[in-house]
Amino acid sequence: MLTSMPIASSQTIQFLRRGEVVTLNNVPPTRTLLEVLREDLQCTGTKEGCNEGDCGACTVVLGEAKDGHIHYSAVNSCIRLAHSVNGLALWTVEDIAAEDGTLHPAQQALVQCHASQCGFCTPGFAMSLFGLYQNQQGKTEPLTREQAMESLSGNLCRCTGYRPIVEAALQMGDLPPVRINEAELLQKLELFKHEYKGLEADLSYILPATLSALLSARAQHPQAQIVAGCTDVGLWINKLHMALEQVLDVSRVQEIRRIEDHPHELRIGAAATLTQAFAALVADRPHLHTFAARFAGMPVRNAGTLGGNVANGSPIGDTMPLLIALGSRVVLMSEQGQRDMPLEDFYTGYRKNVLAPDEVLAWIRVPKATPTEFSRVYKISKRFEDDISAVCLALNLQVVGDQVVSASIGAGGVAATPMRAVQTEAALTGKPWTQATVTQAMATLRQEFTPLSDLRASADYRVQVLGNLLQRLWLESQGANNINLENFDLTDLDTVQGDTV
Ligand SMILES: Cc1cc2nc3c(=O)[nH]c(=O)nc-3n(C[C@H](O)[C@H](O)[C@H](O)COP(=O)(O)OP(=O)(O)OC[C@H]3O[C@@H](n4cnc5c(N)ncnc54)[C@H](O)[C@@H]3O)c2cc1C
Ligand code: FES
Ligand code: FES
Repeated sequence: MLTSMPIASSQTIQFLRRGEVVTLNNVPPTRTLLEVLREDLQCTGTKEGCNEGDCGACTVVLGEAKDGHIHYSAVNSCIRLAHSVNGLALWTVEDIAAEDGTLHPAQQALVQCHASQCGFCTPGFAMSLFGLYQNQQGKTEPLTREQAMESLSGNLCRCTGYRPIVEAALQMGDLPPVRINEAELLQKLELFKHEYKGLEADLSYILPATLSALLSARAQHPQAQIVAGCTDVGLWINKLHMALEQVLDVSRVQEIRRIEDHPHELRIGAAATLTQAFAALVADRPHLHTFAARFAGMPVRNAGTLGGNVANGSPIGDTMPLLIALGSRVVLMSEQGQRDMPLEDFYTGYRKNVLAPDEVLAWIRVPKATPTEFSRVYKISKRFEDDISAVCLALNLQVVGDQVVSASIGAGGVAATPMRAVQTEAALTGKPWTQATVTQAMATLRQEFTPLSDLRASADYRVQVLGNLLQRLWLESQGANNINLENFDLTDLDTVQGDTV
C-alpha cells in the first residue's frame, strides 16, 4: 500500500512497478538501473548488449505525470542511474502483458509479424513499441511509418531485419488493447511526489525538484557531479569506471525542464530533454527535422538534455554549432544571481567552460527564425543515423535582395571546442550573394581552423568538407535539393555520409 510506504532513508530508491511501490535500500549513487533490474531484482528480461546506450537491448519505459496524463519515455537502462527513477513509474518487458498473460499489442504484433529470430534485441524493441503505443493513445491521426522508424531508431537488430519490426509497429494499433489504469496510476504518482521530496535528504544522490533547492545544493556541494539525462556521464561510469561519490541530478527541477515560447526567442530549460527541445526548435524551423532525428536514437533523446549537450562541451557535440549559428545565449545561475552570455563565450578549452563551482547552466535562449534568414545545418558522420559527427557546420545568413546582411556560422569537429567561424562570417557579410562570394568564403573557411585527424575523419577531409558544405548551402539557396556530394572534391567520401537539413 502506498500510504504505508516507508520514509525514504539514505540511498533509498522508490518507484512504481506494476502499480506497486518498489523500495530499494543502500543503492550506491552510480548503480545503474540495468544493474538494479538484472542483479538486485533478478529481472533478466531486460538485456545488456553494449552497456553504452547504443543498441537498445536494455530499453525500459518510464512514466511520469504530465498535464493530467501519463507521459511514457523509452530510455536506455544501462546508462540511467537507478536513483533517477525515484518517484516515477517503470515498465520492463516483464510488466506489459495483462495479468492473465495476454500479450500487450506491442508484443503480439512482434509475434504475428515474425519480427524476432535470435530474440536478444526483442525485449528492447517491445519496450520502444510499448512507449510508442501508450503515447499514441487518444490521438486521432494514425501512426506513420516515419514515426514508427523514429521510435525504433535506438534499437539495433542484427538478424531479423527491420521490415517485419516496422510492420509490427504499424499493426499493433489494430490489435485488442491491454489497458493501463492511468487514473489510478496518476493518483499514486501524485502521492508519490510528496514522499519523494523527502529524498533530498540523501546526500550521496541529490535529486532536487525546484530551482532554489538546486542552487542551494550546488552552493553546498560544489564538488558533486552534476548529471541530467546521464547519456554522457553514464559512459564515464560504465566505460571509464569513474567513481562518483556524490551526484547532483538536475533532471527533475521543474523550472528548468520548461520551454518558454516568447515572441522573439525560445527559452529552453537546460533540463528539457532533447526530444522536447528539438520539438520546439523544429516547430520554429521545420527544416531542422532531419537533423534532430539524426541525433543519437530516440531513447537517448528521451533522456539526454539540451543543457547536458551544451555543458558537456564536446567539440563534436551536435547542437552547439547550430545554437551558435542561431545566435543563442546561455543563462548561468547561482544563489548569487545570474549571468547571460553568447554560447561561444561559454567555452574556455577542451570540455572546459566558465561555470563557477556554485553555478549551473539554467537556460538556453534561442532567437526565433526571421523572414530573411536562410539557415542550414549539415552533419557529416560515417553512419547516417545514430552516429557522432566528424564535422558539423551550421550557417545562418540574412539575405536581403542579393546582399548578405549578416552571416552567423557555427562549426563542430574543427577545434577543441565548438567554434564560431568569424573570418568566414566577415568574408560573407556585406557582399553580394553570388558564386564568386561563396568561392572566396570557401577558401577563408578552409583556412580558418586547423582540425585534427582522428578515427572519424582526417584533418584534410575535415578542411575539404567544410568548404564543400558552404558551396552546398549556396546551391541549396538557388533551389537545388538532395545534392550529391560525389560531385564535389572529396577524397574519402566512401566512408562518410552527409545530409542537408
Ligand atoms: C548512444 C549515444 C549516442 C549519442 N549521439 C549523440 C549525437 O548524435 N550527437 C551529440 O551531440 N551527442 C550524442 N551523444 C551524447 C549525449 O547524448 C549528449 O551530449 C546529451 O545531450 C547529454 O545530455 P545529458 O542530459 O545526458 O548529459 P549528462 O550526461 O547528464 O551530463 C553531461 C555533462 O553536462 C553537465 N551538465 C548537465 N546538465 C548541466 C547543467 N544544467 N548545469 C551544468 N552542468 C550540466 C554534466 O555535469 C556533465 O558534465 C550520444 C550519447 C549516446 C550514449
Ligand atoms: S545495453 Fe546497449 S543500449 Fe543499453
Ligand atoms: S532478433 Fe536477433 S538481433 Fe534482433
